[in-house]
Amino acid sequence: MLSDRSRPVIAATLPVVAEHIGEIAQRFYKHLFTEHPELMDGVFNRGNQVHGRQQQALAGSVAAFATTLLESPERVPEQLLCRIAHKHTSLGIRPDQYRIVHDHLMWAIGDVLGDAVTPEVAAAWDEVYWLMANALINQERGLYSARGVRPETVWRDWQVVRKIPESDDVVTFVVRRTDDRLVKTSLPGQYVTVRMRMPDGTLQPRQYSLTRADDGEHRQFSVKRVRGEGGDPDGEMSTLLHDSVGVGDTVSLSLPYGDVVLDDAGRPVVFAGAGIGVSPMAGMLSHLAAAESGLSITVLHADLDESRFPLRRQVVNDVLALRNARMYVWYEKGAHSMEPVDGVFEALMDPTAVDLADDAVYHLCGPLPFMKAVRGRLIEHGVAPHDIQYEVFGPDLWQADLD
Ligand SMILES: Cc1cc2nc3c(=O)[nH]c(=O)nc-3n(C[C@H](O)[C@H](O)[C@H](O)COP(=O)(O)OP(=O)(O)OC[C@H]3O[C@@H](n4cnc5c(N)ncnc54)[C@H](O)[C@@H]3O)c2cc1C
Ligand code: HEM
Repeated sequence: MLSDRSRPVIAATLPVVAEHIGEIAQRFYKHLFTEHPELMDGVFNRGNQVHGRQQQALAGSVAAFATTLLESPERVPEQLLCRIAHKHTSLGIRPDQYRIVHDHLMWAIGDVLGDAVTPEVAAAWDEVYWLMANALINQERGLYSARGVRPETVWRDWQVVRKIPESDDVVTFVVRRTDDRLVKTSLPGQYVTVRMRMPDGTLQPRQYSLTRADDGEHRQFSVKRVRGEGGDPDGEMSTLLHDSVGVGDTVSLSLPYGDVVLDDAGRPVVFAGAGIGVSPMAGMLSHLAAAESGLSITVLHADLDESRFPLRRQVVNDVLALRNARMYVWYEKGAHSMEPVDGVFEALMDPTAVDLADDAVYHLCGPLPFMKAVRGRLIEHGVAPHDIQYEVFGPDLWQADLD
């Protein structure tokens, strides 16, 4: 709860801070990495810095948090904090690092807003920061301790035992534990952070969804090769994994984290994915198949054509193995499917073209325009927004808008 002293100050300054928050975030990161270059070596994803996605995500989250404090002080933006906390724990973020972020963020606010930041204004934003930071620190402490780890011990080495080509641009890695320690379980839909040294010597992290249920020995994830467009460089982690990591090599993975997990309360489940967005859904389906679930499940997948559909055989086999599952595909190039699916369309996905179970919960994953279009269709169709979960393969710029 914001103090009575800070509330009017935040109410008066939120519009100007919100207006400049993008610039504040830019300056904050620049200053942070100048003073702490080690944070770009193993902690932050430098790809997300280039186009400003992480800057926007941080800025949007702070503005959304401050807005909630003012407009609905009785509630905390649970979903927003939860998503950030899971990302942080998958990276081994430590409580003491919040002081560093604080100092640089407050410096950036002062640097951008100048004389407008009186000691009173600085104190009020300081309070907002620590309310948010402490909420995150507490959640993260809970997430670490629930898995019996500390921030430093989320990492573990795994050995690649299979590298399976899925399509022209997707490969699946199956990795096995390299020691006798128990493999911690994952929840269906969670991701791991893969941390690898890049050719220039810098350690870089990226998240990948787990695409198979636990077996106590292995983890599986699938990686799409990212090609640079318009002169941009190719994606560094995906290129490294595709070209230089093979059977017998060692990769470092965090424990599984992620808040977009299967709700197995017994309600029908609809998965709607596109391209590599099938990954978390393949993981959830694999868990359901392993548990011989009798849930009503509908899988909707969109792709260019059948040959581009990653993990297709695994997904189709799991759908066939489940008692109560159906599957529909939308291909841009031709309504052809060699697989035994329940419907094939030559179009962009329209989920309302098929029978959807009443009272279903929805899981979306794919490019943002795809998810926005599908979510919009579902809401028009009468689905409640809180029944639609989604996973963004990058900093979640949607969350702050939606919350
Ligand atoms: C929760 C979550 C789950 C995910 N699950 C999966 C999954 O299951 N499978 C999967 O394939 N991916 C997944 N991702 C995405 C994955 O984490 C990576 O973002 C993806 O593999 C790209 O990483 P990269 O290192 O290859 O690309 P990066 O090097 O990070 O590049 C990303 C983009 O930035 C551009 N770029 C980079 N540097 C520059 C520069 N200097 N100038 C201009 N442009 C630049 C590149 O051209 C590229 O378009 C997931 C992400 C999240 C957050
Ligand atoms: C109150 C303080 C903080 C806020 C509001 C905040 C906010 C965020 C947000 C919104 C994201 C994006 C989440 C997503 O992927 O959707 C994020 C990711 C991240 N945060 Fe924080 N964060 C805070 C503190 C910290 C601290 C102390 C560190 C450690 C130095 C840190 C490191 C990171 C990293 C490494 C990522 C992933 C970014 C990437 O790799 O692109 N954050 N944070």
